[in-house]
Amino acid sequence: MGMKDFNWVYPHRAMAHFGPGSLNKLPELAAPYGKDTRIMLVTGRSAMRSTGILDRVLDLLGADRVVVFDRVSPNPTTGEAHQAAALYKQERCGLFVGLGGGSALDAAKAAALMVHHQGDLADYMLQKKNFGPRAEPVITINTTAGTGTEVNAAFVITIPEIENKYALSAPAAWPAHAIVDPELCLHLPADQTASTGLDALSHACESLWCKRSQPAGDAHCFEAIRVILEWLPRTVDALDDLECRARMSYAALTAGFALLSTGTAVAHGMSYPITARRGTPHGFACTFVIPQALEFNMPVLDGEKKARLFELLKVSSEHAAVEVLQQFIEAHGAPRSLADIGLGADDLPALVDATNPFNCANNLRPITRQDLVSL
Ligand SMILES: [Fe+2]
Repeated sequence: MGMKDFNWVYPHRAMAHFGPGSLNKLPELAAPYGKDTRIMLVTGRSAMRSTGILDRVLDLLGADRVVVFDRVSPNPTTGEAHQAAALYKQERCGLFVGLGGGSALDAAKAAALMVHHQGDLADYMLQKKNFGPRAEPVITINTTAGTGTEVNAAFVITIPEIENKYALSAPAAWPAHAIVDPELCLHLPADQTASTGLDALSHACESLWCKRSQPAGDAHCFEAIRVILEWLPRTVDALDDLECRARMSYAALTAGFALLSTGTAVAHGMSYPITARRGTPHGFACTFVIPQALEFNMPVLDGEKKARLFELLKVSSEHAAVEVLQQFIEAHGAPRSLADIGLGADDLPALVDATNPFNCANNLRPITRQDLVSL
Protein backbone atom coordinates (compact mmCIF):
# COMPACT_ATOMS: atom_id res chain seq x y z
CA MET A 1 0.00 0.00 0.00
CA GLY A 2 1.32 3.46 -0.91
CA MET A 3 0.09 5.12 2.25
CA LYS A 4 1.75 4.65 5.62
CA ASP A 5 0.31 4.74 9.14
CA PHE A 6 0.34 8.07 10.97
CA ASN A 7 -0.65 9.88 14.16
CA TRP A 8 -2.29 13.28 13.88
CA VAL A 9 -3.53 15.65 16.56
CA TYR A 10 -6.56 17.40 15.07
CA PRO A 11 -8.02 19.75 16.11
CA HIS A 12 -4.85 21.08 17.68
CA ARG A 13 -4.98 22.40 21.22
CA ALA A 14 -4.07 26.06 20.74
CA MET A 15 -6.97 28.19 19.51
CA ALA A 16 -5.58 30.54 16.84
CA HIS A 17 -7.23 33.94 16.58
CA PHE A 18 -6.22 35.22 13.18
CA GLY A 19 -6.79 38.62 11.64
CA PRO A 20 -5.93 42.32 11.75
CA GLY A 21 -7.04 43.73 15.11
CA SER A 22 -7.22 40.32 16.81
CA LEU A 23 -4.90 41.70 19.52
CA ASN A 24 -8.01 43.41 20.92
CA LYS A 25 -9.34 39.98 21.92
CA LEU A 26 -6.61 39.66 24.57
CA PRO A 27 -8.70 40.83 27.58
CA GLU A 28 -11.47 38.40 26.66
CA LEU A 29 -9.00 35.52 26.28
CA ALA A 30 -7.28 36.32 29.59
CA ALA A 31 -10.59 36.72 31.47
CA PRO A 32 -11.16 33.01 32.32
CA TYR A 33 -7.91 33.05 34.32
CA GLY A 34 -9.45 35.58 36.74
CA LYS A 35 -9.93 39.33 36.49
CA ASP A 36 -7.44 40.08 39.24
CA THR A 37 -4.92 37.37 38.31
CA ARG A 38 -1.42 38.71 37.94
CA ILE A 39 -0.01 38.15 34.48
CA MET A 40 3.61 37.76 33.46
CA LEU A 41 4.36 39.31 30.09
CA VAL A 42 7.46 37.72 28.56
CA THR A 43 9.11 39.77 25.84
CA GLY A 44 12.38 41.04 24.37
CA ARG A 45 14.40 44.02 25.49
CA SER A 46 13.41 46.78 23.08
CA ALA A 47 11.38 46.15 19.90
CA MET A 48 8.01 45.88 21.62
CA ARG A 49 8.69 49.11 23.52
CA SER A 50 9.89 51.13 20.54
CA THR A 51 6.97 50.05 18.35
CA GLY A 52 4.39 50.90 21.04
CA ILE A 53 3.04 47.33 21.02
CA LEU A 54 4.06 46.77 24.65
CA ASP A 55 2.07 49.81 25.80
CA ARG A 56 -0.95 48.62 23.84
CA VAL A 57 -0.80 45.21 25.52
CA LEU A 58 -0.39 46.80 28.97
CA ASP A 59 -3.43 49.00 28.32
CA LEU A 60 -5.50 46.02 27.20
CA LEU A 61 -4.63 43.92 30.27
CA GLY A 62 -4.38 46.72 32.86
CA ALA A 63 -0.78 47.68 33.58
CA ASP A 64 -1.06 47.36 37.37
CA ARG A 65 -1.52 43.59 37.24
CA VAL A 66 1.17 42.84 34.68
CA VAL A 67 4.70 41.81 35.63
CA VAL A 68 6.94 42.56 32.64
CA PHE A 69 9.85 40.20 32.08
CA ASP A 70 11.68 41.95 29.22
CA ARG A 71 15.03 40.17 29.38
CA VAL A 72 14.54 37.67 26.55
CA SER A 73 17.46 37.71 24.10
CA PRO A 74 17.18 36.82 20.38
CA ASN A 75 18.22 33.27 21.29
CA PRO A 76 16.63 32.70 24.71
CA THR A 77 18.78 30.82 27.20
CA THR A 78 18.14 28.33 29.96
CA GLY A 79 19.05 31.09 32.43
CA GLU A 80 16.41 33.49 31.06
CA ALA A 81 13.69 30.81 31.34
CA HIS A 82 14.77 30.05 34.93
CA GLN A 83 14.69 33.77 35.82
CA ALA A 84 11.22 34.24 34.33
CA ALA A 85 9.88 31.17 36.16
CA ALA A 86 11.35 32.36 39.49
CA LEU A 87 9.88 35.87 39.10
CA TYR A 88 6.50 34.39 38.12
CA LYS A 89 6.40 32.39 41.36
CA GLN A 90 7.68 35.29 43.46
CA GLU A 91 4.99 37.63 42.04
CA ARG A 92 2.28 34.95 42.38
CA CYS A 93 1.20 35.17 38.75
CA GLY A 94 -1.43 32.93 37.18
CA LEU A 95 -0.92 33.37 33.42
CA PHE A 96 1.95 33.84 30.98
CA VAL A 97 1.60 36.04 27.90
CA GLY A 98 4.45 35.70 25.40
CA LEU A 99 4.80 38.76 23.17
CA GLY A 100 7.23 39.06 20.28
CA GLY A 101 8.95 36.77 17.80
CA GLY A 102 9.70 33.11 18.42
CA SER A 103 12.25 33.94 21.11
CA ALA A 104 9.76 35.53 23.50
CA LEU A 105 7.14 32.86 22.87
CA ASP A 106 9.61 30.01 23.38
CA ALA A 107 10.95 31.60 26.59
CA ALA A 108 7.37 31.92 27.91
CA LYS A 109 6.63 28.26 27.17
CA ALA A 110 9.86 27.02 28.76
CA ALA A 111 9.27 29.22 31.83
CA ALA A 112 5.67 27.96 32.10
CA LEU A 113 7.05 24.43 32.38
CA MET A 114 9.85 25.35 34.80
CA VAL A 115 7.33 26.79 37.30
CA HIS A 116 6.32 23.16 37.87
CA HIS A 117 9.62 21.35 37.31
CA GLN A 118 12.75 21.10 39.42
CA GLY A 119 16.35 21.16 38.28
CA ASP A 120 18.15 22.53 35.27
CA LEU A 121 16.21 23.21 32.05
CA ALA A 122 19.33 22.08 30.14
CA ASP A 123 18.77 18.49 31.31
CA TYR A 124 15.28 18.53 29.80
CA MET A 125 16.46 20.14 26.54
CA LEU A 126 19.14 17.43 26.24
CA GLN A 127 16.45 14.80 26.91
CA LYS A 128 18.21 13.51 30.03
CA LYS A 129 14.94 14.21 31.88
CA ASN A 130 11.32 14.35 30.69
CA PHE A 131 8.77 17.03 31.44
CA GLY A 132 5.66 15.93 33.32
CA PRO A 133 2.11 17.00 32.52
CA ARG A 134 2.03 20.30 34.43
CA ALA A 135 2.73 23.84 33.17
CA GLU A 136 1.25 27.28 33.69
CA PRO A 137 -1.17 28.56 30.99
CA VAL A 138 0.30 30.55 28.09
CA ILE A 139 -1.24 32.95 25.58
CA THR A 140 1.03 33.72 22.62
CA ILE A 141 1.05 36.95 20.61
CA ASN A 142 3.47 36.75 17.71
CA THR A 143 4.86 39.82 16.02
CA THR A 144 6.77 38.03 13.24
CA ALA A 145 5.56 35.60 10.57
CA GLY A 146 7.87 32.62 10.72
CA THR A 147 8.30 30.33 13.67
CA GLY A 148 4.86 28.76 14.03
CA THR A 149 5.66 28.39 17.72
CA GLU A 150 2.49 30.36 18.52
CA VAL A 151 0.38 27.23 17.91
CA ASN A 152 2.56 24.32 18.91
CA ALA A 153 4.13 22.77 21.98
CA ALA A 154 7.72 23.09 20.78
CA PHE A 155 10.34 25.60 21.90
CA VAL A 156 14.02 26.20 21.20
CA ILE A 157 16.39 27.15 24.01
CA THR A 158 20.11 27.93 23.97
CA ILE A 159 22.39 26.24 26.49
CA PRO A 160 25.24 28.78 26.78
CA GLU A 161 27.65 26.35 28.48
CA ILE A 162 27.80 24.18 25.35
CA GLU A 163 27.21 26.97 22.79
CA ASN A 164 24.29 25.16 21.21
CA LYS A 165 20.51 25.32 20.88
CA TYR A 166 18.04 22.48 21.32
CA ALA A 167 14.39 22.15 20.30
CA LEU A 168 11.92 20.19 22.37
CA SER A 169 8.21 19.51 22.23
CA ALA A 170 6.42 19.07 25.56
CA PRO A 171 2.63 18.60 25.45
CA ALA A 172 2.13 20.65 28.64
CA ALA A 173 3.66 23.68 26.89
CA TRP A 174 0.86 23.92 24.36
CA PRO A 175 -0.43 27.51 24.38
CA ALA A 176 -4.09 27.97 25.25
CA HIS A 177 -4.57 30.73 22.67
CA ALA A 178 -2.50 32.24 19.87
CA ILE A 179 -3.19 35.77 18.72
CA VAL A 180 -2.03 36.09 15.11
CA ASP A 181 -2.56 39.74 14.25
CA PRO A 182 -0.79 40.67 10.99
CA GLU A 183 -0.89 44.36 11.98
CA LEU A 184 1.76 43.56 14.58
CA CYS A 185 4.16 42.52 11.79
CA LEU A 186 3.99 45.90 10.07
CA HIS A 187 6.96 47.13 12.13
CA LEU A 188 9.35 44.39 10.94
CA PRO A 189 12.27 45.59 8.79
CA ALA A 190 13.05 43.91 5.46
CA ASP A 191 15.85 41.63 6.69
CA GLN A 192 13.77 40.23 9.56
CA THR A 193 10.74 39.90 7.30
CA ALA A 194 12.87 37.86 4.89
CA SER A 195 14.59 35.70 7.51
CA THR A 196 11.38 34.86 9.38
CA GLY A 197 9.58 34.14 6.09
CA LEU A 198 12.38 31.77 5.12
CA ASP A 199 12.04 30.08 8.52
CA ALA A 200 8.38 29.34 7.69
CA LEU A 201 9.45 28.04 4.26
CA SER A 202 12.00 25.74 5.88
CA HIS A 203 9.36 24.39 8.30
CA ALA A 204 7.08 23.54 5.39
CA CYS A 205 9.94 21.91 3.44
CA GLU A 206 11.39 19.95 6.35
CA SER A 207 7.94 18.70 7.38
CA LEU A 208 7.71 17.14 3.91
CA TRP A 209 10.99 15.25 4.18
CA CYS A 210 10.94 14.15 7.80
CA LYS A 211 10.15 10.66 9.07
CA ARG A 212 7.01 11.87 10.85
CA SER A 213 5.54 13.47 7.69
CA GLN A 214 1.96 12.49 6.89
CA PRO A 215 -0.80 13.42 4.43
CA ALA A 216 -2.60 15.89 6.72
CA GLY A 217 0.67 17.67 7.51
CA ASP A 218 1.72 17.62 3.85
CA ALA A 219 -1.45 19.51 2.89
CA HIS A 220 -0.49 22.31 5.28
CA CYS A 221 3.09 22.31 3.97
CA PHE A 222 2.10 22.61 0.31
CA GLU A 223 -0.27 25.46 1.15
CA ALA A 224 2.46 27.27 3.11
CA ILE A 225 5.00 26.81 0.31
CA ARG A 226 2.50 28.07 -2.29
CA VAL A 227 1.76 31.22 -0.29
CA ILE A 228 5.38 31.94 0.65
CA LEU A 229 6.69 31.60 -2.92
CA GLU A 230 4.08 34.11 -4.05
CA TRP A 231 3.88 36.51 -1.12
CA LEU A 232 7.31 36.70 0.55
CA PRO A 233 8.89 38.66 -2.36
CA ARG A 234 5.87 40.99 -2.42
CA THR A 235 6.00 41.51 1.35
CA VAL A 236 9.69 42.41 1.34
CA ASP A 237 8.91 45.01 -1.35
CA ALA A 238 5.89 46.42 0.49
CA LEU A 239 6.61 46.19 4.22
CA ASP A 240 3.60 48.30 5.23
CA ASP A 241 1.08 46.40 3.09
CA LEU A 242 -1.36 44.68 5.44
CA GLU A 243 -2.56 42.24 2.77
CA CYS A 244 1.02 40.99 2.29
CA ARG A 245 1.55 40.74 6.05
CA ALA A 246 -1.70 38.80 6.45
CA ARG A 247 -0.69 36.30 3.75
CA MET A 248 2.69 35.69 5.38
CA SER A 249 1.19 35.38 8.88
CA TYR A 250 -1.22 32.82 7.47
CA ALA A 251 1.59 30.90 5.74
CA ALA A 252 3.71 30.77 8.90
CA LEU A 253 0.69 29.64 10.94
CA THR A 254 -0.13 26.96 8.37
CA ALA A 255 3.44 25.64 8.44
CA GLY A 256 3.23 25.77 12.25
CA PHE A 257 0.17 23.48 12.12
CA ALA A 258 2.22 20.95 10.18
CA LEU A 259 5.00 21.12 12.78
CA LEU A 260 2.50 19.99 15.43
CA SER A 261 3.06 16.43 14.35
CA THR A 262 6.05 16.38 12.05
CA GLY A 263 8.99 18.29 13.57
CA THR A 264 12.00 19.48 11.62
CA ALA A 265 14.96 17.65 10.12
CA VAL A 266 18.58 18.04 9.05
CA ALA A 267 18.52 21.71 8.02
CA HIS A 268 17.23 22.78 11.43
CA GLY A 269 19.66 20.41 13.11
CA MET A 270 22.56 22.13 11.39
CA SER A 271 21.14 25.61 11.97
CA TYR A 272 21.31 25.49 15.77
CA PRO A 273 25.12 25.52 16.17
CA ILE A 274 25.40 28.08 13.33
CA THR A 275 23.12 30.48 15.21
CA ALA A 276 24.52 29.70 18.66
CA ARG A 277 28.13 30.21 17.52
CA ARG A 278 27.90 32.79 14.73
CA GLY A 279 24.71 34.70 15.63
CA THR A 280 23.21 34.06 12.18
CA PRO A 281 19.44 34.79 12.38
CA HIS A 282 17.52 31.52 12.70
CA GLY A 283 15.62 31.85 9.41
CA PHE A 284 18.84 32.37 7.45
CA ALA A 285 20.67 29.60 9.32
CA CYS A 286 17.96 27.01 8.74
CA THR A 287 17.59 27.72 5.03
CA PHE A 288 21.38 27.56 4.57
CA VAL A 289 21.26 23.89 3.54
CA ILE A 290 17.58 23.60 2.53
CA PRO A 291 18.33 23.16 -1.22
CA GLN A 292 21.00 20.56 -0.42
CA ALA A 293 18.61 18.84 1.99
CA LEU A 294 16.01 18.64 -0.81
CA GLU A 295 18.62 17.16 -3.15
CA PHE A 296 19.69 14.65 -0.49
CA ASN A 297 16.12 13.56 0.30
CA MET A 298 14.91 13.52 -3.33
CA PRO A 299 15.62 9.79 -3.89
CA VAL A 300 13.29 8.82 -1.03
CA LEU A 301 10.54 11.42 -1.58
CA ASP A 302 7.17 9.99 -2.48
CA GLY A 303 6.36 10.45 -6.21
CA GLU A 304 3.10 12.34 -5.65
CA LYS A 305 4.78 14.63 -3.16
CA LYS A 306 7.63 15.32 -5.55
CA ALA A 307 5.18 16.10 -8.36
CA ARG A 308 3.28 18.63 -6.22
CA LEU A 309 6.54 20.27 -5.16
CA PHE A 310 7.66 20.56 -8.80
CA GLU A 311 4.29 22.12 -9.65
CA LEU A 312 4.68 24.75 -6.92
CA LEU A 313 8.26 25.51 -7.93
CA LYS A 314 7.17 25.56 -11.61
CA VAL A 315 9.88 23.07 -12.64
CA SER A 316 9.97 19.66 -14.28
CA SER A 317 13.20 18.14 -13.00
CA GLU A 318 14.91 17.43 -9.70
CA HIS A 319 17.88 19.55 -10.68
CA ALA A 320 15.66 22.54 -11.53
CA ALA A 321 13.72 22.17 -8.24
CA VAL A 322 16.93 22.48 -6.23
CA GLU A 323 18.09 25.43 -8.38
CA VAL A 324 14.83 27.37 -8.03
CA LEU A 325 14.75 26.84 -4.27
CA GLN A 326 18.38 27.98 -4.04
CA GLN A 327 17.67 31.12 -6.08
CA PHE A 328 14.61 31.96 -3.97
CA ILE A 329 16.39 31.76 -0.64
CA GLU A 330 19.49 33.58 -1.90
CA ALA A 331 17.33 36.38 -3.28
CA HIS A 332 16.01 36.83 0.27
CA GLY A 333 19.42 37.10 1.88
CA ALA A 334 20.20 33.58 3.09
CA PRO A 335 23.94 32.82 3.24
CA ARG A 336 25.43 31.02 0.21
CA SER A 337 28.62 29.65 1.69
CA LEU A 338 30.43 28.89 4.94
CA ALA A 339 32.34 32.17 4.42
CA ASP A 340 29.03 34.08 4.48
CA ILE A 341 28.46 32.87 8.05
CA GLY A 342 32.04 33.57 9.06
CA LEU A 343 33.27 29.97 8.97
CA GLY A 344 36.06 28.27 7.03
CA ALA A 345 36.54 24.69 5.83
CA ASP A 346 38.49 24.00 9.05
CA ASP A 347 35.37 24.73 11.09
CA LEU A 348 33.30 22.12 9.27
CA PRO A 349 34.10 19.08 11.50
CA ALA A 350 33.10 21.01 14.64
CA LEU A 351 29.90 22.23 12.96
CA VAL A 352 29.00 18.68 11.93
CA ASP A 353 29.76 17.36 15.44
CA ALA A 354 27.45 19.99 16.96
CA THR A 355 24.59 19.32 14.51
CA ASN A 356 21.52 18.27 16.46
CA PRO A 357 21.18 14.45 16.40
CA PHE A 358 17.46 14.51 17.27
CA ASN A 359 16.62 16.58 14.16
CA CYS A 360 18.87 14.38 12.00
CA ALA A 361 17.16 11.25 13.33
CA ASN A 362 13.87 12.67 11.99
CA ASN A 363 15.28 13.19 8.48
CA LEU A 364 13.49 10.99 5.94
CA ARG A 365 16.67 9.61 4.37
CA PRO A 366 19.07 8.25 7.02
CA ILE A 367 22.00 10.63 7.28
CA THR A 368 25.60 9.85 8.19
CA ARG A 369 28.38 12.11 9.42
CA GLN A 370 29.93 12.00 5.93
CA ASP A 371 26.57 13.05 4.41
CA LEU A 372 26.53 16.08 6.71
CA VAL A 373 30.02 17.08 5.58
CA SER A 374 28.92 16.77 1.93
CA LEU A 375 25.83 18.94 2.46
FE1 LIG B 1 12.64 27.22 12.46
